[in-house]
Amino acid sequence: PPDVGIHALEFYFPSKFVDQMELEQFDGVSAGKYTIGLGQTQMAVCDDREDINSISLTVVQNLVEKHNISFKDIGFLEVGTESIIDKSKSVKTVLMSLFEESGNYDVEGIDTKNACYGGTAGVFNAINWIESSSWDGRYALVVAADIASYAEGPARPTGGAGSVAILIGPNAPIVFDQGVRSTHMNHLWDFYKPELASEYPTVDGHFSNTCYIRSVDACYSLFTKKFSKRNSPDQLTKIQDLDFLAFHAPNCKLVQKAFGRLVYNDMLQDPENDIYAPVKEHAKFAHSEESYYDKGLERGMMQFTKAEYEKKVIPSLYASTNVGNMYTASVWACLSSLLSSTPDEEIVNKRIGMFSYGSGSAATFFSLKVVSSTQKFRETLQIKSRLDQRVKVSPEVFAELLKLREETALLKDYNPVGDISTLVKGTYFLKRIDEKFRRTYLRA
Ligand code: ACO
Repeated sequence: PPDVGIHALEFYFPSKFVDQMELEQFDGVSAGKYTIGLGQTQMAVCDDREDINSISLTVVQNLVEKHNISFKDIGFLEVGTESIIDKSKSVKTVLMSLFEESGNYDVEGIDTKNACYGGTAGVFNAINWIESSSWDGRYALVVAADIASYAEGPARPTGGAGSVAILIGPNAPIVFDQGVRSTHMNHLWDFYKPELASEYPTVDGHFSNTCYIRSVDACYSLFTKKFSKRNSPDQLTKIQDLDFLAFHAPNCKLVQKAFGRLVYNDMLQDPENDIYAPVKEHAKFAHSEESYYDKGLERGMMQFTKAEYEKKVIPSLYASTNVGNMYTASVWACLSSLLSSTPDEEIVNKRIGMFSYGSGSAATFFSLKVVSSTQKFRETLQIKSRLDQRVKVSPEVFAELLKLREETALLKDYNPVGDISTLVKGTYFLKRIDEKFRRTYLRA
């Protein structure tokens, strides 16, 4: 089938947030560390009323309602997440409760787990299903969803929560470029969750940042080769060939560093070109070990690429700045932000590069072309106005909510106590976990 791509996107985030400037004061760190140093303004938080099932139910039901889709028209559904509340029962099977009324039980796909990357793997599985002999003509739906929270300490301000539903099919307004997906996977201990009873990861923060940047190098250099081979064999693809970029965003500062690193890679291919004169001195590092730690190189490239970063990357970061990391959902929330705010004149016929990174590690660089109007995305996503309607909680309350989640997440015979009055209409919430651990949900 031609033009396999994205027909619709829905993005859900919790209704409560904490202000990062207030969190800096509360945590006793220097003013600007979270807001400037990490580039984060606000962070979403949820109480014991929400879990991976509820945020996935919410985003799927909202997508189907906003876009007037029949559950019968979905033939594939996969959930990418690392928020595991059951070692056996998939979130996908919980989502099948939404399909019951339609009588459609013929839906392939299941959950895909990996730190921050499961959603992207789900999207690739969906594309592959549609392009295969198994395809039956219906849509594929992918959910990328996570509640990201860290134990007290330096990683805590890089939490968040959110879910994105991605409707995929042929003849789409936003089309996946074929034959250019470029992957780098290897065995690393940068971020993992060995404590099965805890939501919190074990994380080597600074090491994970370096792992991310190394994957940027590996995936982008492969992508530029694959892309030029297909499109312009005489000329190596460069950042100029991409009009917008959306990255996995653990914190927005790391995204800015990653963009600088892409241009650094371009420069290493063409170091004598006059356009790189202001940063040419850094080319001496090439891809050496030192190149990943040299602050002069990192800051020099960030400064050199500032204007282009503002034009090509900032439009995708609005949600991440104000919601925080959403693990598997993060890169898809970035695409949602870009589409929610960019008018047709600026985006139709433009190409979007995407970099998905998951610790452990699994990473892919790929691209999309916008071939027709994205008005429908702007009308339905409305990210800015929805973010403006959230309720702010103090850092004290934020810490209490995380404590509540810590203490109650895996209980049985439990009635959640979180306040449901702040939930946005249409949000699913946990009603009860019964004596056999079975969870039931209601919708606000
Ligand atoms: N004003 C402005 N900037 C400041 C200030 C200040 N007052 N104080 C510090 N900064 C800057 C620092 O210079 C640093 O910037 P730089 O890296 O550009 O030099 C930045 O703020 C962060 O400060 P650090 O001291 O490096 O922060 P810390 O070590 O406390 O933690 C980290 C940061 C490692 C990102 C931590 O939050 C973490 O572990 N997060 C989770 C891991 C993560 O997200 N990894 C990313 C990939 S894996 C994944 O997606 C989960």
